[in-house]
Amino acid sequence: MLNIVVLISGTGSNLRALLEASADAEFPARVVAVGADREADGLAHAEEFGIPTFTVPFSSFASREEWGVALLEQIRVWNPDLVVLSGFMRLLPRTVVDALAPHLINTHPAYLPEFPGAHGVRDALAAGVDETGASIIVVDNGVDQGPVIVQERVPVLPGDTEQELHDRIKPVERRLLVQTVLDIANGLDLASL
Ligand code: GRF
Repeated sequence: MLNIVVLISGTGSNLRALLEASADAEFPARVVAVGADREADGLAHAEEFGIPTFTVPFSSFASREEWGVALLEQIRVWNPDLVVLSGFMRLLPRTVVDALAPHLINTHPAYLPEFPGAHGVRDALAAGVDETGASIIVVDNGVDQGPVIVQERVPVLPGDTEQELHDRIKPVERRLLVQTVLDIANGLDLASL
């Protein structure tokens, strides 16, 4: 059984997809805890599924490094095999990445290396491309620059708003994330990517 800690900042729809998948006794992974950097709405999904949560508010610490120390301490309580950043909107300090990599993955709403950063959907629209995508990557110390595990194209349609495009990308992200967790549980070696 692959034990996962998921970190979120927002609505947690990717988290929910993982919780639903792992509710099936045949699924070889389970979410053991969900952490957040703020009072994220998505923590309610964890509570609904009876999964413990923790919050390490970024704003309560004097520096990113001190926040990272506290966050890592909370993650380590659960001794996870994998940490999933799932709409987690804070850059982790190097010490945290180095402690967890390569067992640390991120979902991103663009076809990396296209449109990295916090506004991947907005940036794709602004660039006028006719397709973007979704990616699952191994996190390293760059911003959305780690090895791609899996990615898929998603069309941009004429007149799309940022919300409409993001709503088209997110189901793809969710499917790729669940598949990736399954692949890792079945032996995919993140260190070899
Ligand atoms: C996802 O598109 C994720 O890639 C991006 O923010 C969104 C989070 O969605 N960074 P949710 O919180 O899982 O609903």
